[in-house]
Amino acid sequence: MSISHPAIREAKFATLSPEETFNEGKKFASRLNGGEVIALVGELGAGKTVFTKGLCEGLNVKNPVISPTFTIVNEYDADLKIYHFDAYRLSGSEEAAAIGIEDYMKGDAVCIIEWADKVKEVIPEEATWIYLYHNKDSGTGRLLKIVLFGDR
Ligand SMILES: Nc1ncnc2c1ncn2[C@@H]1O[C@H](COP(=O)(O)OP(=O)(O)OP(=O)(O)O)[C@@H](O)[C@H]1O
Ligand SMILES: [Mg+2]
Repeated sequence: MSISHPAIREAKFATLSPEETFNEGKKFASRLNGGEVIALVGELGAGKTVFTKGLCEGLNVKNPVISPTFTIVNEYDADLKIYHFDAYRLSGSEEAAAIGIEDYMKGDAVCIIEWADKVKEVIPEEATWIYLYHNKDSGTGRLLKIVLFGDR
């Protein structure tokens, strides 16, 4: 019998500085084997790119990791292939589909998508969602919530 509402697993972390968010990204990288989709959600300046930079360092990316705000997608070859998307300038899921985002997500690469909530219709069900929030009590405080859907 299939389970209609798969279990949700959540982990929460608080960081107090960009370096700590970077390190959470780096630690998270050690869990990746390739083929994962990481959907990042959080307002401007929440730390999505900082987290991604840490993740890339964890996968031994040698090139400087820069925000794909204008290029939409940047590609890195490291321990795993990485596609780093920023959906901020996309109008929505239709435009994401038009640039072929689903093809990038089919292979063995790790796909990281900033502003994934803007293109949620093209994010696969098995994606890992990471929400980043400004901590209201501290200028450099952030809360990170990692959510896994399904039974992994
Ligand atoms: N705890 C923290 N974690 C991450 N970044 C922090 C933290 N405290 C302060 N910062 C600062 O906040 C900014 C986060 O920028 P970043 O580019 O990662 O945000 P973003 O979520 O990718 O924004 P955008 O939506 O513009 O892409 C950086 O300037 C960083 O130095
Ligand atoms: Mg960013």
